[in-house]
Amino acid sequence: MPVTIVLGSQWGDEGKGKIVDLLAENCEYVARYQGGANAGHTIKLPDGREFVLHLIPSGIFHPGVFCIIGNGVVIDPVALREEIKMVEDAGVEVKGRLFISYNAHLIMPYHKQIDKASEARLSKSGDGKAVGTTGRGIGPAYEDKFARKGIRIVDLLDRNLLAEKLRQNIFEKNELLSKFYDSKDLCDVEQIIRDYEVFDQEMDPYITDTSLLLNKAIAEGKNVLLEGAQAALLDIDFGTYPYVTSSSPTAGGACTGLGIPPTSIDKVIGVVKAYSTRVGNGPFPTELLDSTGEGLRKAGREYGATTGRPRRCGWLDAVAVRYAVMINGIESIALTKLDVLSDMPEIKICTKYERVTDGKIIEHFTTNLKTLGAIRPIYESFSGWKKSELEGISKREDLPGNVKIYLDAIERELGAPLNIISIGAGRNETLVEQSLVGSL
Ligand code: IMP
Repeated sequence: MPVTIVLGSQWGDEGKGKIVDLLAENCEYVARYQGGANAGHTIKLPDGREFVLHLIPSGIFHPGVFCIIGNGVVIDPVALREEIKMVEDAGVEVKGRLFISYNAHLIMPYHKQIDKASEARLSKSGDGKAVGTTGRGIGPAYEDKFARKGIRIVDLLDRNLLAEKLRQNIFEKNELLSKFYDSKDLCDVEQIIRDYEVFDQEMDPYITDTSLLLNKAIAEGKNVLLEGAQAALLDIDFGTYPYVTSSSPTAGGACTGLGIPPTSIDKVIGVVKAYSTRVGNGPFPTELLDSTGEGLRKAGREYGATTGRPRRCGWLDAVAVRYAVMINGIESIALTKLDVLSDMPEIKICTKYERVTDGKIIEHFTTNLKTLGAIRPIYESFSGWKKSELEGISKREDLPGNVKIYLDAIERELGAPLNIISIGAGRNETLVEQSLVGSL
């Protein structure tokens, strides 16, 4: 199975970083295909050091792995510079191992300003329309890309072209900021040109034709992992629009975000957290606004890796994840943070929804906000287990009976096997079905 996509199957923060880091050991390439520094992929190394990666693929901590940032990613060069430094300071070689598509678009300071101004305006309107973005400029950068006025990373290599494009763009953005958003904080075009022209030399070693690189690697039969950021239910097309991100985290996004054919994809692994979380606004059918939700937040350390915001928490929503399984062709699931459910007297899975107006049963997820706003989850309940019962376990067969019952129910509800089960943050706290790793 040389080409494998690993993607989030809920609303993000499923623990994709750990799974990619784990599988990367058997891979030659790890490639990010969408999103930007809105992502926060947490990796815990065997020596206990913990790192949060926002842009660099989660394979970077394996010395032999090449990492690719594809054309579908939007790159904040300032954030990337900091991240490269963080990884190098940790003693890890980045030059010669990190490759960036020359077609990837850039996030500029004005994108972040517009992102924040837009959210502030929507919040002020008082009708709950703010998306709750990460404020990293993701939406406005993709807007420019699709309006065909974005600045691409290759533009950094030509100082004159960069200055010309920045002047055109900043004129327009200052008009928008001052006249529409009533902002006094406008962009200083000459300062931005000075700040960004230095990236020509800094980024030059990394920029290349990553589509060609990856296609060659695939043709040579190399093992390639395609790392999704965010998740299926935040997808611009298939998520709970408009409470979504502005890219395509779903499986199709891997092809367009990297320039590889759909026929090259061998396997899609969906990462599913043993419960649900969501940051930002938007529908969340199984949200728990009580002490159980608070307990999940504390036990799972559910605070945004990028923004530090507390995450909304709730039970596993099998209706929503079944939808993610369907639209992505997920054939294999990596279940994460199972340990967080330990010591709870009762654990629930939402298996269906019920329409509140007439009791109609809904078995298929919908992104229709009206429908989602008028349903209640129907749960199946399970008995819990003690945290101590998970200690030292390395095989699924050795798990306590109550855990096995819970896992069997998830497999039944989702219609896909749990090939990886994570019971802690460390690489060794993972039960992996060897046939999966062997086939990578
Ligand atoms: P944006 O991607 O910053 O535009 O934010 C759009 C929505 O996606 C907001 O609800 C964010 O909280 C959410 N979001 C973006 N990136 C992540 C992530 O990596 N994990 C979880 N939620 C995210």
